[in-house]
Amino acid sequence: MEPKPLPFTKELEGISAKTLAIHHDKLYAGYVKKTDEITGKLVELQKSGTYEGNATYSELRALKDAETFAVNGVYLHEWYFDVLGGDGDPGKAPELSKALAEKWGSVEDGIKYFSACAMAARGWSVLVWDIKAQSLKHYNGDWHSQGGVWGCIPIIVLDVYEHAYFIDYGADKKAYLDAFWRNFDWAKAEALYLKAKIVTL
Ligand SMILES: [Fe+2]
Repeated sequence: MEPKPLPFTKELEGISAKTLAIHHDKLYAGYVKKTDEITGKLVELQKSGTYEGNATYSELRALKDAETFAVNGVYLHEWYFDVLGGDGDPGKAPELSKALAEKWGSVEDGIKYFSACAMAARGWSVLVWDIKAQSLKHYNGDWHSQGGVWGCIPIIVLDVYEHAYFIDYGADKKAYLDAFWRNFDWAKAEALYLKAKIVTL
């Protein structure tokens, strides 16, 4: 697995190059590296035939636990970086805007609610297409391997770990959220929403 480059080259407004360098080049790239390491160890363990399925402690349990943490660390960051680099104009997402308005009153109310959910999260705040419910839903996760809901396709992934904003804003998480929305690429979210909502199980 190779780390994906940032999908934008322009400077973001309110999210500094220093934060991005640490966040993308070190943290995200670190999850990619660890995913490879864990995958390699799982393959070795399976081939060795010495694996033990013990839920209190076993090498297999420790690796499987680390695997979901690392893989979610990779995927969630890729979704997060992928919708940055925009101009914050929801007009570029007509269908998604309509859906947000239907669900939460207006696009502004949808963003306001999302930001409040993000303030309440310790790690991730995610707008998804819930395939079972056939609806947009909003879920929070406090760490990579917690909070994810099976059968959902992420549309907007917001990283609210302190590493995403502390250099730029200290403890002012709200100011970071405002910057996130200013840099949000609504056209990309629209494309994802249109692809996701045709999926049925
Ligand atoms: Fe992060």
